[in-house]
Amino acid sequence: MTHLQLKTNLLNQSLTLPNGVVIPNRLAKAATSETLATYSNNPTEKHVRLYQRWAAFGIGMIITGNIMIDRRALGEPGNVVVEDERDFAVLQKWAKSVTEQGSQLWAQLNHPGKQSPKGLNIRNISASAVPFGAEMQSLFATPDEATHDEIIEIIQRFGHSAAICKKAGFSGVEIHAAHGYLINQFLSPLHNLRKDEWGGTPEKRRKFLMEVYKEIRKQVGTDFPIAIKLNSADFQKGGFTEEDSLEVIKVLAAAGIDLIEISGGTYESGVAKAPQKPSTIIREAFFIEFAEKVRNHVKTPLMVTGGFRTVEGMNQALESNAFDIVGIARLMAIDPDAPKYLLAGTNSKQNVQPIKTGIKKIDRLGIMEVLWYTQQLNSIAQGKAPKPKENGLWAFIKSVLRSGWGTYATQRTRIKS
Ligand SMILES: Cc1cc2nc3c(=O)[nH]c(=O)nc-3n(C[C@H](O)[C@H](O)[C@H](O)COP(=O)(O)O)c2cc1C
Repeated sequence: MTHLQLKTNLLNQSLTLPNGVVIPNRLAKAATSETLATYSNNPTEKHVRLYQRWAAFGIGMIITGNIMIDRRALGEPGNVVVEDERDFAVLQKWAKSVTEQGSQLWAQLNHPGKQSPKGLNIRNISASAVPFGAEMQSLFATPDEATHDEIIEIIQRFGHSAAICKKAGFSGVEIHAAHGYLINQFLSPLHNLRKDEWGGTPEKRRKFLMEVYKEIRKQVGTDFPIAIKLNSADFQKGGFTEEDSLEVIKVLAAAGIDLIEISGGTYESGVAKAPQKPSTIIREAFFIEFAEKVRNHVKTPLMVTGGFRTVEGMNQALESNAFDIVGIARLMAIDPDAPKYLLAGTNSKQNVQPIKTGIKKIDRLGIMEVLWYTQQLNSIAQGKAPKPKENGLWAFIKSVLRSGWGTYATQRTRIKS
C-alpha cells in the first residue's frame, strides 16, 4: 500500500444504508461480550464508562456485547438481559454515551441455546438434544429439545427486546446468528435434527431465524436498522456450510435486512479463527473470500469481522470492494483509542498477539482467548488502562474463578428473587 493511497483512507467514507440511516465511517467495533452486568443481569455505569471511551474518537458504529433476551437463558454470568423496562434509565444512558458523541450504538441480541456453562441456567434448550463433543462435555451440558411453544416465545422475546432497545435510544439491533449460539444451532444440520416445521431441510432450519427477523421488524418498523451476524461456515464436519450461509443471506436480503456481518466458527470449532490460506492472512480479513462471493449475489451492505489489525490491511480489504464496513474486536479491547489512529491513517501502538496459557489442552479451546480479552474490557470499564502484557495463564485462572463465582452468585440471586 503506497503512502498516496493512505491519504485517501477509505475508512473515513460514510455509508448510507438502504433505509437512509447514515453510518459516519467504515470502522465498527464488533460485539464483545463485556460480562459487566450485575448478577441479576442489569447494565451498570461500567457499561456507560466503557462505551463512552470507545466512542471518544469518532468510530462509525459500535455493536454491544451480546444482550440476552431471557433471564433464564444466559451465556455467561454478568450478561445484560433486556426482557422488560426495569433498566430503562441505564439503557438510555448507555445509548447516549455513544450516540451523543456522533457514533452509532447497535444492540446485539442473543439466546445462547446450549452454549452456556454448566450450572448457570436451570435448563438449557436447543434445536435438538445434541451433546457437545467429548472435549467440551465437562463445561457444557446436553440441552433439551425446545418445544414449539418455547420457540414461539423466544421469537417474540427477540422482537420485544429490540423494541425496548429502540425506545431507549439505540441506533439499531443486530441478531446474533453466528458462533454456535441458538439461532446458529437451528441453522446447523449437525445440531438441528428436528423433523417438524423447524428442521429437516435448509429452508425449515432457517425458519427460526426468519421468524426472529420478521418479529423484530414488526416491532421496530422499517426505519430502524436490523443487522445479522452470520457464520460464513461453522467449520464443523456435517455443520452449516458456505453454501447454506449464502442461501440464508439471499433470503434475508430479499426480506429487507439492513446489514450483514460475516464471521465464522463456534465454541467447538473456534470462534473467528484465522483460516490457513496464506493469501487471506496477508489481507488480514479472515472471511473476505466469502464476502466476495456474497457480493455477487446481494446488494445489502456487508461488514466483515475477524483478523483486521492495521490501517493498511483495512484499506487493502476495502479497496477490493467486497464489503463495506471493517469490524474490529480484539484491538479495541487492548487499545480503546484505536479509532483515533486508524481514522487518521496510522496504526495503534498495540499489536493483537495470540494469547496462550502454555497448557495445550486449554489453549486448544478458543474461549480461552476470549476470557483474556474480557478482562481487558473490565479494566477499561473501571477507568483503568488495559494490560496488553497480562500473563495468559494468570488471566485464565482469574477468569475461571470469576466465572465460578459468577455462576454461584447468579444462582443465589435467582433463589432470592
Ligand atoms: C472478549 C470477546 C468477546 C466477544 N463477544 C462477542 C459477542 O458477544 N458477540 C459476537 O458476535 N462476537 C463476540 N466476539 C467475537 C468478535 O466480535 C469478533 O468476531 C472476533 O473477535 C474476531 O474479530 P477480531 O479479530 O477483530 O478480534 C467476542 C470476542 C472477544 C475477544
